[in-house]
Order: sequence, then structure tokens, then C-alpha cells
Amino acid sequence: MIWLVGHHGMLGTEVYHRLRARKLEHVATDLDVDITDRQAVSGFSDPSALSWIVNCSAYTAVDRAEDEPERAFRINADGVRNLAWAARQKGARLLHISTDYVFDGRKEGAYLETDPPNPSGVYGRSKLQGEIYIRENIDRHVILRTAWLYGPAGANFVRTMLRLFQERDEVRVVADQWGSPTLAGDLADAIIQIITRETIQYGIFHFTNEGRTNWFEFASLILELARKHHLVDRQVRLLPIKTKEYPTRALRPANSYLSKEKIKAVFGIPVRPWQEALESFMNDMASHSGKT
Ligand SMILES: NC(=O)c1ccc[n+]([C@@H]2O[C@H](COP(=O)([O-])OP(=O)(O)OC[C@H]3O[C@@H](n4cnc5c(N)ncnc54)[C@H](OP(=O)(O)O)[C@@H]3O)[C@@H](O)[C@H]2O)c1
Repeated sequence: MIWLVGHHGMLGTEVYHRLRARKLEHVATDLDVDITDRQAVSGFSDPSALSWIVNCSAYTAVDRAEDEPERAFRINADGVRNLAWAARQKGARLLHISTDYVFDGRKEGAYLETDPPNPSGVYGRSKLQGEIYIRENIDRHVILRTAWLYGPAGANFVRTMLRLFQERDEVRVVADQWGSPTLAGDLADAIIQIITRETIQYGIFHFTNEGRTNWFEFASLILELARKHHLVDRQVRLLPIKTKEYPTRALRPANSYLSKEKIKAVFGIPVRPWQEALESFMNDMASHSGKT
């Protein structure tokens, strides 16, 4: 039995669909089992033995976290510790999702799992504390760090761009922050592959789609594909800007390019290029909207 935590979120929705499609025995919760409530988490039980707790829940409001650090830490650190305790108590393994924001983005080249974290904001610090609590409390854990997540559910960069392309004649996007987009469905596939394996190597792994880009290039391909699929039929000018021209409450890492070599080598998980993943997402968007 798999316990999926956070099944209403952007990633959780994708994992949930796959658990159902694969007919994997599971139970799914979201705010109905508040992970910050230790009693609720440890008391949550099912007659069957749990094999995995998969945690897709989180406090993900990166900028708001600067103004409510207690809440971010309560969910991303203390709540995660409750899940680690529960997994240990129930004899289950824990798969948890973390973030590129644990790094400060000053490294040149790809971040390895062994690189020292140094988060610059509250969100990143709270997520790093969650990782630390897991490592301290349960040996049988897999922490998957991801970045630039998008998918059909929830607010994300691709959906924001598609909205702005309808509303504005000119859209400005930062071109000096580098990383890799991640289609939530591809990460969900990786999660399913890991939790259905016979043998597991525990520890921290990085997963995003392959290839390094910046937000402006990402937006340019979204626009190109949106035009191709007639999701946008009006003229929009896309302009590259610098981070300092688009100040945000929380600092963003200038480089959040994560190396995927470890997850590929250990689990044999395929990682497709971000352009290919985006193309398949936009195809799906077009077919759902009746425009192809
Ligand atoms: N989005 C990204 O670009 C990105 C990048 C890197 C890493 N990540 C990580 O990837 C994971 C999935 O992100 P996501 O974007 O799919 O997140 P999301 O859409 O914000 O989903 C998180 C879910 O957890 C729920 N939740 C919040 N507090 C909870 C609590 N106390 N108890 C139980 N459930 C709670 C949320 O409910 P409410 O919505 O009602 O609060 C929501 O349904 C997270 O660990 C995130 O840190 C995300």
C-alpha cells in the first residue's frame, strides 16, 4: 500500500493519475490529513501494510514565505519530520520531493547531489530543513530534488505565459536565470518507477527534464508552440530582461541546473529533453482545447 500525500497539488495530481492507471494499491490525502498535525499523521492508518509514503505536499509560495517563515517551516520542515516519523513507525519507506532552491545558484555548471546546499530564501531554507529531518529520522528515504515544475494542474510558468500571451502585447521575461524545466508527468513517471522497483538505493537524487535553458528561452518555445497549435493567434512581443529589472520578494538562484547523472545511472530512469516534454504538454493542451 502506497500513501500519497498532497494529491491535489500540481505534482500530486500526476502521481495520483498514475497510481490509479497502474492499479497500484494506494490511499491519497491532502489537507484532510494535515501533515503539521503529528497525531493526525501518525494516527492515519489503513488495514494494509504501508510500503511507501510519497510526499508531494508542501508550502510552495516562494515569495510569500519571506513574510510567513513560521508557516513555511511548519509545513516544509516540521510536517515533513512528522511524515518521516510516521514512515519509520509504520515500517514504510519515504519518497519526498525537494527543490533546486536549496542551492544559492552561484556554482558554474551542473549541481550534483553532493554539492553543499546554501539556500538564499525562507522557502529554500525550510525545504532544506525538511531534507535534514528526513536524513536524521529515516534511513530508507529517497529525496528527489526538482526544479521549474509545470503541468496541467495548478499555477505554473507555462500556464502563466499562456494567459499573458492572451492579455498583453508585450511580455518581458528574465533571461539570466538558468535551469531546466520539468514536466510534472515526467517526474511522476520517475516516482512510479522508483517505488515499484524491487531494489532501492536510498539517498538524494536530482530530476528535471534534460537540457539547460533560461526563462526567456523557455517562454519563446511556449509562444512558438502555442502559435503552432493555435492556442495564441495574436501578435505578442517577447522581450528578454535581467533579473534586476524584475525584482521579487525572494531571491531566485541564477543557476539551478541540476545534474541527472545519478538518477540515470542508479535507477536507469530516462530523462527526455525539456523541449520534447514541453512539445508533448502543448500537444495535450491543444487537443483538450479542441485546437490541434
Ligand atoms: N512548483 C515548482 O516549480 C517546484 C520546483 C521545485 C520543487 N518543487 C517541489 O515539488 C513538490 C510539489 O510541488 P507542487 O508545485 O506540485 O506543489 P503544490 O501544487 O503547491 O501542491 C502541494 C499540495 O500540498 C498541500 N498542502 C499544503 N500544506 C499541507 C499540509 N499542511 N498538509 C497536507 N497537505 C498540504 C497543498 O494544499 P493547498 O494548495 O491548499 O495549500 C497542495 O495541494 C513540492 O515539494 C515542491 O516544494 C516544486
